[in-house]
Amino acid sequence: MAKPVLRPVTAAQVRRDFNDLRAVVHYTKAAHELGLWASERIMIARHFTDFTVPLLEAGCGAGRISVALHALGYQNLTAFDFAQELVEQAVFLAAERKAPITVHHADATRLDEHPAFAPTAQADRSPRFSGCLFMFNGLMQIPLRRNRRRALRQLAALCQPGAPLLFTTHDRDHSPAERTSWRLEARRWAEGKQDPRLREYGDRRFEDECGDTFMHLPDRAEILADLAATGWEHHEDHLRRELAKESAAVRAFSDECRFWAARRSG
Ligand SMILES: C[S@@+](CC[C@H](N)C(=O)[O-])C[C@H]1O[C@@H](n2cnc3c(N)ncnc32)[C@H](O)[C@@H]1O
Repeated sequence: MAKPVLRPVTAAQVRRDFNDLRAVVHYTKAAHELGLWASERIMIARHFTDFTVPLLEAGCGAGRISVALHALGYQNLTAFDFAQELVEQAVFLAAERKAPITVHHADATRLDEHPAFAPTAQADRSPRFSGCLFMFNGLMQIPLRRNRRRALRQLAALCQPGAPLLFTTHDRDHSPAERTSWRLEARRWAEGKQDPRLREYGDRRFEDECGDTFMHLPDRAEILADLAATGWEHHEDHLRRELAKESAAVRAFSDECRFWAARRSG
């Protein structure tokens, strides 16, 4: 039998992955049962100190972060995700918890084309959000660096100067096993023998109980350059384990990651 042709991962493929039933069940369960991680609570409390200002959550999935933010007392929440199945779960959970969150079906790289976010959606055209979150790696699930930069630029355009941005990434070198695996991966790229589905060094494609997943694992210099190029000033970054000791349930949901906090320049 002929081998299937492995094609480079596209945004459409990533969207299909997140609309897959296995992913929908996984993120919906986390939104209903897991809520915020200890490290997320710390970083949110540190950077989002006004409970009344408008906040935007990108890549909200089934609503885990936004619904928990409402429970903490944040009053003006807008969220969006590009996977329709997850948006429906977020809308359902927000209604169930009586959380008045506006949830849109939108792509972070194409917000300027979306009726709710396009510059014309607002009479005075001024940026309307006072803070933004893109939690649990969503930004790094956008294939190609130029598209991640596009998303960062589009979020910056919606945020007022000084607005905080919080997001997470996975490090390539947080454990000896990761360091070994990336040394081998570097050799494969140097020899042109990398997985043909990957488009940039740092990309990873794997399958687990929540289906197929694409993610890009950046190095620190890459994120610092991307923030500087897209209207954001780096504020701080920390490995999760430096912030809090997480429960077994959180560690089962997500392995080690890095929290980044930036501020809208200007
Ligand atoms: C790992 S999940 C995290 C979901 C949720 N924030 C949570 O913590 O449970 C990443 C999310 O980012 C979303 N995402 C990825 N690329 C996106 C894009 N270009 N625009 C909007 N959402 C995107 C995915 O659909 C998915 O819901």
